Order: sequence, then C-alpha cells, then structure tokens
Amino acid sequence: MEIKFRKTEEVVESQKKLMFPCMPKYRQPVIFIEGKGALVKDLEGKEYIDLFAGYAAVNIGHCHPKVVKAIVEWAQKIHHSSYDYYNIPSAILAEKLVKILPMQGDKKVFFCVSGAEAIEGSVKLMRKYMLKMRGRTGLDVITLRYSFHGRTHMTTTLTGQSKYKLGMATVTAIPGVKIIPAPYCYRCPFKMTYPECDVYCALYLEDVIKFETSRDIGAFLAEPVLGEGGIIVPPKEYFKKAIEIIRNYDGLFIVDEVQSGFARTGKIFAVEKYNVEPDIIAMAKGLTSGLPLGAIGAKAEIADAFEPGNHSSTWGPNAVSCAAASAVIDVILEENICEKVEKLGKYFIDGLNELAKKYALIGEVRGLGLMIGVELVKDRNKKTPAVKEALKIREKMREKGFLIGAGGAYGCTLRIEPPLLITQEQIDKALEAFDDVFKEYS
Ligand SMILES: Cc1ncc(COP(=O)(O)O)c(C=O)c1O
Repeated sequence: MEIKFRKTEEVVESQKKLMFPCMPKYRQPVIFIEGKGALVKDLEGKEYIDLFAGYAAVNIGHCHPKVVKAIVEWAQKIHHSSYDYYNIPSAILAEKLVKILPMQGDKKVFFCVSGAEAIEGSVKLMRKYMLKMRGRTGLDVITLRYSFHGRTHMTTTLTGQSKYKLGMATVTAIPGVKIIPAPYCYRCPFKMTYPECDVYCALYLEDVIKFETSRDIGAFLAEPVLGEGGIIVPPKEYFKKAIEIIRNYDGLFIVDEVQSGFARTGKIFAVEKYNVEPDIIAMAKGLTSGLPLGAIGAKAEIADAFEPGNHSSTWGPNAVSCAAASAVIDVILEENICEKVEKLGKYFIDGLNELAKKYALIGEVRGLGLMIGVELVKDRNKKTPAVKEALKIREKMREKGFLIGAGGAYGCTLRIEPPLLITQEQIDKALEAFDDVFKEYS
C-alpha cells in the first residue's frame, strides 16, 4: 500500500479528515521532514529555527548524532522485551537515572511511555505507600491552579485549568483533588506584591489543608515552573515553604518535571533551583529528546510500597527508547548542557527584556534557563490578555522561519523553549525577528 504526500495542504486535509478532531484549534501547517539541532525543514523545503522543540521535548536537539547512534544500534538488535523479561538499555538507563535524581539516599525508577502515565503512576504509588506505611489512603492531592499534568482522567482532574476539562465534567472529577491558587506574581491571586507578600500563596496551602481537606493528606503535586500555564516561575522561597507545610501534615511532595526536567532550566531538574527534595518525581519529554518514554523516580522506601503486579506498562522498558534516554543523559553531562543553558537562557531573556522596553504589548518576560515566557497584554496597567496578538505573532514568526508556542492560562503568553543546543547566533536571529514582528504591533 503506497501513499504519498507531496504538498502541505494534502497532509493537512488528510489529517483533518482522518484524525480525531481534538487537536489544537490552530494546528500549524508545517510538515516536519528533517531536523538537526535547533533546525527543522518542512515538506516545501523551508527551514525553521525551532523555538518550541515539540512542546519543549526535544531538549538536546533534533536527531542528535549520539541519540541517533543509540537508536539505530538497538533498532537493529531488539526493540522490546516487556517487564516479563529484561533488556540491557533499560538496565543501563536505570543505573544512570538514579545517579542524577535530585534526592538523597537510595532511589528507584520505573519506566512508562508518557508524562501523563508518569504522573498517574506517581499518584498511585503515593497512595499505595500511604496505605501500606501510614495506614491511611492518601486521598487528598493538592495541585496548583494553572498547572498541567496530562490528558488522562486522573491527570486532567489534577490539572488546574478548566480549558482542558470543558464539556468533560464526568471524566475529570476524581475525588480527593484540591486545586489551590498558584504563585503567579504577575497576576497575583491575592493581589499582593512580592516580596512584601511573604509568599502568602505558599502559606495558603495550610489553610486549604486545614479547612478543605479530609486531612488524609497524600501529596502536594507541582511543576517547579508551570509550563502550559504560561511559564510561571514561582518565587525562590515558594517550594521550601510549601513543602514544609505538606510534610507537617504528613504528605509527600511529588514534583512534575515532565517539561522542566533534563537541563531545560539550567539544572538537570528545575526543583534543584529551589533547593528542595521531592519524594517522587515524574519525568518524560526531554528524557529521550524525541522518543516516547516516561519515568517515575522515588525514594526507595516509597517505591518499595509497590508489590509485584501493582503496576506495569507494556512499552515501559522499550529498548530503543531507553537507549535514546541513556544517550541523552550522557550528552547532558558530557557537553555541560546545564552551564550552556544558564548562559543562553540569560542572554535570550535579556534580549527579550530589551524588546519589552520598546514594545508596550510585552507585559512581562520571565523564565528559568531556556524555559521562557513572554506574556502579552493590550494594556500594561490593566494587564488585559492580548490573545489574538499572541496567535498573530506566532503566525508572523512562523512566516519568518521561527516556530514558537502561544498559550498559557490566559492564552496570551508566547512560549520559547528551544532545543538546548541552540546557538547564540540563532538566538540573535530570533530576537531580530521578534523585533520586526513586534514593530508591526507597536
Ligand atoms: C508538566 C507536564 N506534565 C505532564 C504532561 C503530560 O505529558 P504527556 O503529554 O507526555 O502525557 C505535560 C505535557 O505537556 C507537561 O508539560
């Protein structure tokens, strides 16, 4: 059966006809056919600088030679074993991953296929641990408004944005989940100002625990930087305070590093920037830099709450994906990616802040490393979200050969999360293009 596509429109039309209509409303008409580092080429031969890395996932760039080598090697040997047997790449990956997890003491890992699956598994593990070791169910899971944790029933319930739940109330109402106001200083839910606020949003967690939960506290689950919510960067004290509270009430801290992990913010895990230790960590995306794989890491005493048969995933220990992940970890460590990200992230943010001085449409530039958000507003005083403008700017940037994200909780944040091997020269080109595009809106 031979099927050929020659034109972008042919692919777009076919996809519209055959795929479930749940894709993004403004799916971009760019058919990726090749990629190298931060560059991608489309079906028409046009080249782009990719500033979004496939939802912030291709961390060490498209088709990194060491990842390609690992994939090819294992694609030719064996793809899959399942958890009934063993394979070498998943054993090597477990050895490497436990060494870089941001926790003290003994640690264990589990492999699955996606970020949502890693989050579901993390909550399931926490509840099993609570039942076995603390004699209660760990029912109450507290998450953040503007968070995003995935698209399954459980993870959509945990997600703090109703746009992912619209019209699906029955599948997003799993008991025990409480969503609290987020540390979003630009739009402070308490109308306070940092640092005078004393990070009240973290202290508020205690109020919620005291007055809104069953006191069968399971965990506080949070992204260190809220990605889909619009690259919301909590103040530096936030996690220390919040985690002290959750631990006082005998709960665990589950960190969602699906988007912020694997050097994206200038540390291997963003939580390290906050000097706090999670009990359980969910990972995916940058773990393989391009292949489907998720992982859960946990302190060994927590992981050991699972008993044989409690949890599994057919493709979890997939040899090819695990080999790719192993190569990614090597590249991150050997090529000092974290240091580069710190430097380039600051350079990019400084450049965008220069543009903010010129263009009133830019309400705020924020970020950690190369996880950058540019929130657009129609009026700087009222902070009216500039939603149409954000979509238009994404389109104009695409026409100029730059791929960016547009979204966030208010729909008005440009998301800039390029492959981490992007060069300073490519950043300069992107800043120049942003300058031109913003000029049109000034
Ligand atoms: C922070 C975070 N958690 C979980 C997920 C879900 O990951 P996946 O799409 O691999 O299920 C995402 C995806 O964007 C994410 O950004």
